[in-house]
Amino acid sequence: MGETQEAAASYSHCSLWKKVLTCTLCPLLTLPLIYILLYSPPSFISYTNLLATFQAHGTSTPPPVQPPQVWVQCDYGDGKWVWDASVAGPRYDSEKCEMKSTEKCVVNGKPDNGYLHWRWQPAGCNLSALDPAEFLRALRGKHLAFVGDSTARNQAEALVCFLSTVSRPETAHRYEERLGRKFWRWVFAAPHNVNISTYWSPFLVRAEGKSEDYGMTQDTVFLDALTEPWTADVDGMDIMVISAGHWFPHPAVYYDDGVIAGVFSRPDVNETDIGGGYVGVYRKVMRRTLGFINAKSSGGDKLVVVATIAPSHFDPRYAWNHRDACSRPKPFEEGEAEVASTEAELRKVVVEEAAAAAAQGRRRGLLRFEVLDVTRLASMRPDGHPGAYIMKDAFAGRAVPETVMNDCLHWCAPGPVDSFNDILMQMVVGASG
Ligand SMILES: *[C@@H]1O[C@H](CO)[C@@H](O)[C@H](O)[C@H]1NC(C)=O
Ligand SMILES: *[C@@H]1O[C@H](CO)[C@@H](O)[C@H](O)[C@H]1NC(C)=O
Ligand SMILES: *[C@@H]1O[C@H](CO)[C@@H](O)[C@H](O)[C@H]1NC(C)=O
Repeated sequence: MGETQEAAASYSHCSLWKKVLTCTLCPLLTLPLIYILLYSPPSFISYTNLLATFQAHGTSTPPPVQPPQVWVQCDYGDGKWVWDASVAGPRYDSEKCEMKSTEKCVVNGKPDNGYLHWRWQPAGCNLSALDPAEFLRALRGKHLAFVGDSTARNQAEALVCFLSTVSRPETAHRYEERLGRKFWRWVFAAPHNVNISTYWSPFLVRAEGKSEDYGMTQDTVFLDALTEPWTADVDGMDIMVISAGHWFPHPAVYYDDGVIAGVFSRPDVNETDIGGGYVGVYRKVMRRTLGFINAKSSGGDKLVVVATIAPSHFDPRYAWNHRDACSRPKPFEEGEAEVASTEAELRKVVVEEAAAAAAQGRRRGLLRFEVLDVTRLASMRPDGHPGAYIMKDAFAGRAVPETVMNDCLHWCAPGPVDSFNDILMQMVVGASG
């Protein structure tokens, strides 16, 4: 190998490693994990496998997938961000809420407040800001459950904090483990009688390994095991928001029906790579999850909202822990950034599987499926992440050091994640009207 080739090869290893860090690190951001990532050799990564996976996915953007037409009155996923000078300031004060402190960007002192002033303008309709009182009215007597990874929790906590401006909820259940908030339930008392819960289930099906213990580097995923805590409560959920995807590009061994079905990025295991890669795994899990909900939902009308992946923004020009990894003060402009092909594929899985589940559900006449299509709108918002501002008064007037812990995956709350809930509001009002 010539010197240039070698340099090119090590550069591509390096950028792949960044991608891996992006996927691996962001949902977690805990010190032990960062320690492990930084101080142990990345022996569990197969660059060859990864390279093959990324090459197989190609670099061109696949043709856009049309969301299912049936329930959609407006395609909220298509539009642009517009500066809205009428936005006076933050919608709510995160200091007053029990949300993850790393997402309290205002409290933590993120210096550019511009990210609070952009409004999502769908191409075919207008999207108004969620009205907390009306939202609670629409949900009266109901249970709204968020199921999935930390992006589900991020959205739920932003919603609960906004609703708290009208009525302060009781935290009825608070179950935490090393990895954070496994199961929380907020109860909005009479006259609302509204419950909002979050269920940690990053693979939707049962998994062992890193998703339960950040000290581990990989996962074992049981593709047919719909035995997660959320599955027991499905019948009591009136509205579900399913948001998962960021954990799938991790090294894993997959079991299906009691036998190993394949591996992803596990050269240390003498097993073949799983057919279809992790996107195929995501499809299988999504199909089974939605099929399970269809089969288990015995009565009443239920709204099932499946969120598409919201891309992270670790700028590939920098190391993940460089202060400028996501320090852009403005959204991307039209044409400035495209949705990466792997994220476009994960989005496509959600759109297609939700359409298939909707067709099945319609026959049963009880369920309504919606796609919360946030991939594009989220991909335009590199400015809306906490970045280096994950601790209260993080730098208190001092310059940000060059090396920091960054969160370029979760969203500031208040911040762009509130737009996800603005769209959710339209779906909920549609469901109750
Ligand atoms: C959206 O709002 C603008 C400004 O208020 C209005 O002119 C336009 O007709 C609205 N569009 C739709 C589709 O309601
Ligand atoms: C809300 O949760 C409380 C406590 O867990 C329970 O007693 C109540 O029945 C729930 N209400 C709804 C609407 O699910
Ligand atoms: C890998 O598995 C194959 C098929 O089971 C077996 O023939 C081979 O010896 C194994 N290789 C190693 C290194 O264990």
